[in-house]
Amino acid sequence: MATLVLLLLLLLVVVSHSSSTTHDYHNALHKSILFFEGQRSGKLPQDQRLKWRRDSALQDGFNAGVGVDLTGGYYDAGDNVKFGFPMAFTTTMLSWSIIDFGKNMGAELSNAVNAVKWATDYLLKVTAVKDVVYVQVGDALSDHNCWERPEDMDTLRTVYKVDRVNPGSDVAGETASALAAASIVFRSRDPGYSRLLLDRAVMVFQFADNYRGAYSSSLRSAVCPFYCDFNGYKDELLWGAAWLHKASRRREYREYIAKNEEVLGAGDTINEFGWDNKHAGINVLLSKEVLMGKDDSLKLFKQNADRFICSIMPQGGSHSQIQYSPGGLIFKAGPSNMQHVTSLSFLLLAYSNYLSHANKAVACGGERSVSSSQLKYLAKRQVDYILGDNPLKMSYMVGYGAKYPLRVHHRASSLPSVGVHPARIGCKAGSRYYLSPNSNPNLLIGAVVGGPNSSDAFPDSRPFFQESEPTTYINAPLVGLLAYFWAHPN
Ligand SMILES: *[C@@H]1O[C@H](CO)[C@@H](O)[C@H](O)[C@H]1NC(C)=O
Repeated sequence: MATLVLLLLLLLVVVSHSSSTTHDYHNALHKSILFFEGQRSGKLPQDQRLKWRRDSALQDGFNAGVGVDLTGGYYDAGDNVKFGFPMAFTTTMLSWSIIDFGKNMGAELSNAVNAVKWATDYLLKVTAVKDVVYVQVGDALSDHNCWERPEDMDTLRTVYKVDRVNPGSDVAGETASALAAASIVFRSRDPGYSRLLLDRAVMVFQFADNYRGAYSSSLRSAVCPFYCDFNGYKDELLWGAAWLHKASRRREYREYIAKNEEVLGAGDTINEFGWDNKHAGINVLLSKEVLMGKDDSLKLFKQNADRFICSIMPQGGSHSQIQYSPGGLIFKAGPSNMQHVTSLSFLLLAYSNYLSHANKAVACGGERSVSSSQLKYLAKRQVDYILGDNPLKMSYMVGYGAKYPLRVHHRASSLPSVGVHPARIGCKAGSRYYLSPNSNPNLLIGAVVGGPNSSDAFPDSRPFFQESEPTTYINAPLVGLLAYFWAHPN
């Protein structure tokens, strides 16, 4: 009897412990997608769910002597500039989230697809003319000088482009990747739209490859230091070819990849992945072909992907090159750490699935090997940290959990909404809201912020933008991660 009581007690302890660390991944998934509605630019549709936002930037493209419709798309972060380079990367990652994990999204799938379409409708506008890509709307210095609602904007909406004379293989290559990845998302849902996206991707990739150069050479003062191409454009050419290969299965792209793998530096900086550096993403994406037994000629990419895994896993031994905070969060130098956390975790999870389908593990030299479930575990650990399993016991997603960031560095969220305060709030009149210790009046639900510093501390203060600013490319890979962990919580 006593043993039975003891056993029951033990069971109770185990159950209550595990329930305290289980997250509502479905709720977080729902919110992570809703966030994109808060970033929308242009004319908002009837079914807009985030009601405190209104139409904005309806003259984009018309008013800058360009005379083309460049309305729509997403603001990248807490400001009101439309930066094409990170917007395209966001679109690629949202699409990859759906391609690999859409089957785990349930009713949220249609919302995720809508989030992609909001971007691709815009990307089709910016690539309508052959050998031209409009890569940015808004003068970042003029924008950053004001704390203004997008609905009130009177800052310079300068339009920037790349073309044959001033090329941008980086931004054009990423745009081609986004269009190609999205064409897979729409393949069965809307075949006509899907074909349009793929044809455009082919055209934009040709431009990126034929007219080579970094967009920050000609557009330095507009795009630097914000989304300067620090890392060169070769990775975006390989990345574009990899997505076109996956989307079109045309032989020319596989041949392009095989021919250029060394030239374009497939093995450089293997453990980086973000809006500027695509290397780890290229290697993981192309490894799937190798692991599925489809294409052994790409095995170099699999070797690079294995090296990436060994460099990121604590079990990677001497190959381990990644820093973790004391609380267990992946940490990389530079602003907005959470972008690395979500994008690297996405690759861990995607690679884990490819490995487990092929019944393979990663060899890290010597006796060390890393299993697919270890990759998955690390990805889940990162997601759980974001949702609240961290030293501060707070969620880094706005509106999720009992404690989350309240003073997010985001103009629209921190200023009173147009509904509550219809009168215009000018450029400098917004400063008092920026400096206020009060919580943001409009909940930017689902936004994941830059996150804690390397000691797991978080100031929750607007001026600390590296920690408190959300971005679209933090959330895009997280959508896929949350879908998977909702379907596979253990
Ligand atoms: C992180 O922030 C906390 C609180 O502001 C500070 O005490 C600590 O020194 C910071 N750590 C690092 C590594 O910057």
